[in-house]
Amino acid sequence: MNNFTVKSLLKEGPNSQKVFIEGWVKTFRANRFISLNDGSCSESIQCVVDFQNTNSKILSKINTGTSVKIEGLLVESQGKGQKSEIKVGKITILGECDMDSYPIQPKKHSLQFLRENAHLRVRTNTFSSIMRVRSNLSFAIHKYFKEKGFFYVNTPIITGSDAEGAGEMFKVTTLEINKDSLNQKNEVNYDEDFFGKETNLTVSGQLEAESLAMGLGKVYTFGPTFRAENSNTSRHLAEFWMIEPEMAFYDLEDNMELAEDFIKYIIKDLINECKEDLEFLNQRLIDEDKSKPINERNELSLLDRLDFVIKNNFKRITYSEAFEILKNSKPNKKKKFKFPILEWGVDFQSEHERYLVEKHFKKPVIIYNYPAKIKAFYMRLNEDKKTVKAMDILFPGIGEIVGGSQREERLDVLKSRIQELNIEEKELWWYLDLRKYGTVKHSGFGLGLERLILFATGMSNIRDVIPFPRTPKSAEF
Ligand code: 4AD
Ligand code: MG
Repeated sequence: MNNFTVKSLLKEGPNSQKVFIEGWVKTFRANRFISLNDGSCSESIQCVVDFQNTNSKILSKINTGTSVKIEGLLVESQGKGQKSEIKVGKITILGECDMDSYPIQPKKHSLQFLRENAHLRVRTNTFSSIMRVRSNLSFAIHKYFKEKGFFYVNTPIITGSDAEGAGEMFKVTTLEINKDSLNQKNEVNYDEDFFGKETNLTVSGQLEAESLAMGLGKVYTFGPTFRAENSNTSRHLAEFWMIEPEMAFYDLEDNMELAEDFIKYIIKDLINECKEDLEFLNQRLIDEDKSKPINERNELSLLDRLDFVIKNNFKRITYSEAFEILKNSKPNKKKKFKFPILEWGVDFQSEHERYLVEKHFKKPVIIYNYPAKIKAFYMRLNEDKKTVKAMDILFPGIGEIVGGSQREERLDVLKSRIQELNIEEKELWWYLDLRKYGTVKHSGFGLGLERLILFATGMSNIRDVIPFPRTPKSAEF
């Protein structure tokens, strides 16, 4: 095993020690300069080859994409840009790379082209930076909850319940789908199925997390969730990762406070841990903006946006307040919204959320107390009987990044909500039990990991912040 990485060598500085490093060639110039990257950081290390004393057969095999092992001395760099470089003693070719057919050429590729080559795109600077940011954010999330005394729990991926009640689930079955699997009423006979009942991939671990919070106090899940919604947008995935904390004895106010503190903590942590990657992504965005018309450019750079979220308090408004602002807004009056805001009770679309955040308040916004009709069955009903204790956090460029609520802990109220919405009560027997045996006020929320990464990297398509995206008509790799 090699304990040296490009990152550690660059950090160490020139000291003439003998080192060896394994990685992939980014570029090979003048038969002399290999720029080598091993994924440990965005920078590559320059390796200077003594070409007169190196086998020409080996030299001819070195090009972009070749994997090599390089042994040599870590010395002061003669060139500009970095402190140290490797004076190469020996090169071993680990894996050749056919330069003619290798898709990742040393030039700028379109994001679409890279999506089609998702198995290789992590070798580009942009994608390796995004994946390092993803990894750091995930780690910071665990760190935050550990510091706050939460327990990490794992909720089932295969489940019988539709937590969100939106019916957007992928079925899990071992039945052959043909006429033989139908019963006399021409319905699929799930009694015959693996679990003896209808099952799906989970859309949320919340309901099970509630059960665990009722004994552990404060818990969180961090796992994959699946939604068969046919929305081919830049913010939706069919498989995404969600972080769902659930806290006994928390009300909506406590919930909003925790969510804001949590987001600020993980972004702060990212800025400390991933400086170089963020600087690289920041510059990437500046360069991308240059090719856009002035009115479509970002007002704030990526780094300024991250800083902005840390420094500003999120604006909290009720749904009704947000509704009034939107109803009286210029784009609504001038019929610029695709979905006009007419009557109280409508669900806000991404265009409305972004108007509130980007144009009106110019900061992250938390909307709470939504109409009961547009929210899930488990949210706590307010005194007005029209609204529920829901909250959504909206971010610039993204729209909704967090959705959460105080849960309905009163058995009778919960039961009547379940009946109103025609949900099968018997499927939720265990969830109702939680309200029968020592029920307490409790709250939680869900943060979409990929939406957070979109914000943290300045990327604009959610397909570019998960290694292998699953979207309608696309499940390659
Ligand atoms: O608002 P949602 O649907 O809330 C829940 O699932 C609750 N059970 C959470 C809870 O209270 N424990 O989803 C939560 C978040 C959204 O705000 C969004 O960030 C993300 O999950 N999300 C998606 N991300 C990517 N692709 C999709 N199709 C997403 N759907 C939701
Ligand atoms: Mg939501």
